[in-house]
Amino acid sequence: MYACLCLVFLFFTSIAEATYYPPGGFHHLSSLRQIKKSSSKSKPELPFETRYFPQNLDHFSFKPESYKVFHQKYLINGSFWRKGGPIFVYTGNEGDIDWFASNTGFMSDIAPKFKALLVFIEHRFYGESTPLGKKSPKTAETLGYLNSQQALADYAILIRSLKQNLSSEASPVVVFGGSYGGMLAAWFRLKYPHITIGALASSAPILHFDNIVPLTSFYDAISQDFKDASVNCVKVIKRSWEELEAVSTMKTGLPELSKKFRTCKGLQSIYSARDWLMSAFVYTAMVNYATAANFMAPLPAYPVEQMCKIVDGFPRGSSNLDRAFAAASLYYNYSGSKKCFEMEQPTDDHGLDGWGWQACTEMVMPMSISNQSMFPPYDNDYEAFQDQCMGRYGVKPRPHWITTEFGGKRIETVLKRFGSNIIFSNGMQDPWSRGGVLKNISSSIVALVTKKGAHHADLRAATKDDPEWLKEQRMQEVTIIEQWITQYYKDLREEE
Ligand SMILES: *[C@@H]1O[C@H](CO)[C@@H](O)[C@H](O)[C@H]1NC(C)=O
Ligand SMILES: *[C@@H]1O[C@H](CO)[C@@H](O)[C@H](O)[C@H]1NC(C)=O
Ligand SMILES: *[C@@H]1O[C@H](CO)[C@@H](O)[C@H](O)[C@H]1NC(C)=O
Ligand SMILES: *[C@@H]1O[C@H](CO)[C@@H](O)[C@H](O)[C@H]1NC(C)=O
Ligand SMILES: *[C@@H]1O[C@H](CO)[C@@H](O)[C@H](O)[C@H]1NC(C)=O
Repeated sequence: MYACLCLVFLFFTSIAEATYYPPGGFHHLSSLRQIKKSSSKSKPELPFETRYFPQNLDHFSFKPESYKVFHQKYLINGSFWRKGGPIFVYTGNEGDIDWFASNTGFMSDIAPKFKALLVFIEHRFYGESTPLGKKSPKTAETLGYLNSQQALADYAILIRSLKQNLSSEASPVVVFGGSYGGMLAAWFRLKYPHITIGALASSAPILHFDNIVPLTSFYDAISQDFKDASVNCVKVIKRSWEELEAVSTMKTGLPELSKKFRTCKGLQSIYSARDWLMSAFVYTAMVNYATAANFMAPLPAYPVEQMCKIVDGFPRGSSNLDRAFAAASLYYNYSGSKKCFEMEQPTDDHGLDGWGWQACTEMVMPMSISNQSMFPPYDNDYEAFQDQCMGRYGVKPRPHWITTEFGGKRIETVLKRFGSNIIFSNGMQDPWSRGGVLKNISSSIVALVTKKGAHHADLRAATKDDPEWLKEQRMQEVTIIEQWITQYYKDLREEE
């Protein structure tokens, strides 16, 4: 099973059934569909100017086709900035940049203090920054230019151009990112130290590659979150899978399940229902924020606890599957606006289409599910994954490429002698935290870890209900960034 970061496209092939392949390929996008209505209806006006930067298709070869230009979207707000002042850049991840900008209020919150220029750059091949047009075929021929190294080079080139246009080449640049964007921020600091003075990498699972962390860690962490909320809740969810399995043996099982699960169309397979349930639990653990939020879907504060309250609130003897369904409905229908649930027709509202390609080439993050977890056990089947990638894109994954290109193994020993000015922040309730850097590496490569805290919670805008530990984590980040900037200006003065 393979998963994407923000949007865990669960590769639900053959968890229970070796021969089962879900309709529509290996992406599981049904949970994205659920956020469609809420996100497109009330798209807020973001406090940024939108610009487009002409970018070369390929930075690493000099063939004529490399020079094809596409327009990379970026957002900018200079209302706090003065010339020479710092530039805060968000290194965009696998989706529309507007979506990340509206969930990264931290940068806007601290910009006045630093008199910083705010810039959010969209990742190539996502959102509007599609080099070959939205309708181009999804084949290796076109998608070959979609990878993290090209993206980092895009950021470097755009930042240099921006500084030149602003006649502010000495401005210090600090990069920020969450999830895959956090990985990019950290790697950007390592690869382009002459362009950025430091990186805040929030919830960046840069160790989720090449067996550095145990394959079961992601799903184990989710199970732990639910266990912390209620032991009974975990038991119920764990038992619900058998009840679901049993449906497939019954003659009228699928129509009955479709009715019970209020699906928009009759289910073709029980595994769509299973994926739908699993996704709800996975995403809710990821966004188990301390305050009500709307990142993946509108949800109340601490939604994992709310789900478990639903599970535990059923009368004795209720079906486990009914309880699991009710819990999952919190994720998909908290707004109460869903007439029915779409479980088998994937859609993509945040422009995330490219992740399947990235997961099949460089972002190879194998996962297994242990029999101790609350999910159906699953042993990673690398061969099956490889076959899927061959079938879908005609490419073979390169599972060792990321650790070759960016490192990761023995990271502490390596980075304490090389590299500086990176904050790795994590909340341990985020399942991705297990693949993050959780220990201090040197005096300037630090890990800020909170016991609670979900997927890049620190990057969200401050609210009046924020808990103390979150305020403190953000305060520490501000202090560290301030040190980087002070040091930078001191060095600059000494050069002159
Ligand atoms: C920039 O941010 C400020 C403060 O949030 C806001 O008042 C202003 O409208 C923004 N500018 C643009 C172009 O959106
Ligand atoms: C800088 O200015 C040039 C020339 O007007 C323009 O093409 C380019 O897009 C600008 N760079 C950025 C980052 O906006
Ligand atoms: C969504 O919630 C509303 C309000 O509670 C309810 O009326 C509706 O039936 C729910 N939709 C589904 C598909 O369960
Ligand atoms: C659970 O997995 C462990 C380790 O793979 C194995 O030793 C054990 O027998 C399994 N237990 C069950 C009930 O399948
Ligand atoms: C890393 O060091 C900072 C102080 O610089 C400290 O606040 C933090 O708790 C340390 N992180 C870990 C994981 O020990």
